[in-house]
Amino acid sequence: MTEPLKRVCVIGWPIGHSRSPVIHTHWLEVHGLEGLYSRMAVPEHEIDAFLQGLERHGYCGANVTIPHKEAAYKNAARRTGTAQTLGVANTLWFEDGELWADNTDGYGFLANLDAGAPGWDQNPETALVLGAGGASRAIVHGLIGRGYKSVCVANRSLDKAEALREQFGENVLPISWDARHSVLPSASLLVNTTSLGMKDQPDLEFDLSEASDGLVVTDIVYAPLRTRLLDEAAAKGLRTVDGLGMLLHQAVPGFERWFGVRPEVTDTLRQLVLKDMGLGT
Ligand code: ATR
Repeated sequence: MTEPLKRVCVIGWPIGHSRSPVIHTHWLEVHGLEGLYSRMAVPEHEIDAFLQGLERHGYCGANVTIPHKEAAYKNAARRTGTAQTLGVANTLWFEDGELWADNTDGYGFLANLDAGAPGWDQNPETALVLGAGGASRAIVHGLIGRGYKSVCVANRSLDKAEALREQFGENVLPISWDARHSVLPSASLLVNTTSLGMKDQPDLEFDLSEASDGLVVTDIVYAPLRTRLLDEAAAKGLRTVDGLGMLLHQAVPGFERWFGVRPEVTDTLRQLVLKDMGLGT
């Protein structure tokens, strides 16, 4: 008897912009696997029913994006420790008949730096994180997990940075937006998690003149691929890592859960996604 075709979807509202189908379809081809990965636009009032019926609709799992990451977390029967901590999930799969939820954003962030700036966490003393939104929470959690002693979080609304300290403890040091340069000389990592620098948004203004030589600079913005922050850092001779790799790496654990093979993030995949975004060479 042949196995039924494995079907996975990415759920969001809207969902047309998602690059996930390109990523997973490429991996299915590379590994010669039968499977289908599609986009599913689900409005807010239908998300709970959709997730509860996921298996009935024929799916063995899903990725979940804005605005449904909280619903994904709530509708799962079981959660990984990371999902539990963050209270939001982006990856769902079935195990022994139960719906599991994970959050792979922090994993994707760390794996991207591991690949793009090997040794970046050799001396995990001070990291400077700009922004305190949803992406920042996953990243701050990931950095603390890697042993960073001080994760300084500068945010326009200081209360959100303070909330991160309340959740993750004294390793998080909230900083006002105006003081965002203050810890730069001692930082070995600078991360932009704000929407500044994104296409159609204002640029992030950040003065790198006090940066140490070993500073690694990364931006989670990937459209444009080279943000002003990354260009200025590279011009100073600093190591930089763009945000596209985070998107690619966060997809790895889901594919492995659904299809039983751990896929690789390669340059071919990167070029495919860039082309899909209209940024191909
Ligand atoms: P995400 O899920 O991608 O993290 P988000 O939760 O909306 O998105 O967070 C956006 C981040 O960009 C926040 O840290 C936000 O600052 P506030 O918490 O003060 O809103 C930051 N941000 C957006 N526009 C900004 C601006 N013009 N100046 C400084 N920070 C900005």
